[in-house]
Amino acid sequence: IDYTAIVLAAGQGKRMKAGKNKQFLLLDDKPLIIHTLSVFEKDEWCREIVLVINEREKESMQSLLDAHSFKTVIRLTAGGKERQDSVYQGLKSVSNKTIPVFIHDGARPFVEQSHLHELAKETMEHEAALLAVPVTDTIKQRHGNKLTTLDRTTLWAAQTPQSFSYPLILEAHEQAEQAGYTGTDDASLVERMGRDVKVVQGSYDNMKLTTPEDKAKALSHLSHKNNKAG
Ligand code: CTP
Ligand code: MG
Repeated sequence: IDYTAIVLAAGQGKRMKAGKNKQFLLLDDKPLIIHTLSVFEKDEWCREIVLVINEREKESMQSLLDAHSFKTVIRLTAGGKERQDSVYQGLKSVSNKTIPVFIHDGARPFVEQSHLHELAKETMEHEAALLAVPVTDTIKQRHGNKLTTLDRTTLWAAQTPQSFSYPLILEAHEQAEQAGYTGTDDASLVERMGRDVKVVQGSYDNMKLTTPEDKAKALSHLSHKNNKAG
């Protein structure tokens, strides 16, 4: 099943406090964004990557890509102020509008190919799918000192990739823009259209690098992986 991947790298990485966009952070001598792109590069189902970047980082990103000589076509596109703006710009740059489109955070380098393939299959059938994991914490809803405890068995932590038929996610973004609605992920824009989104259970390893503590976690995960690979 062929698909297009939109990989988002146009943020600032403020919470990582690295003094630069966290996408350029070195993990085991390789920048974070290269780890993430490599997953899609290795997946034969991925036909094209749209890499959404900050216009000001175009040269540095291009030289990174040149140094790693990817086989998959990588199309660079300028992002926007918020993540949702960046996704919308990415969508407009997709060349094949007949195959599913995956939307993925550049800051999630550990997504597994088997999960990409499950997503692709579900997207062919249901038009919208996402990776998620069951919530392990007890989640309280707080209104002042009045607490309620949510039923954990119904709670899922959303990850990326989130995958869609191209026309559906384009329409979801257009409708959100018209309504001035900003969601925290792409699936929420489809949900507000009243459409179902299929949940594919992913892995707790598919973390997003957000804070400095996450860097240590990522390095430990990488050394674990390298040991297993021998
Ligand atoms: N992103 C993007 N365009 C934006 C904002 C975010 O492409 N305007 C991307 C980031 O580069 C990241 C992903 O969306 O890969 C998830 O966002 P997040 O983890 O919040 O990254 P940043 O926005 O870069 O970090 P922060 O919020 O700490 O500044
Ligand atoms: Mg952000």
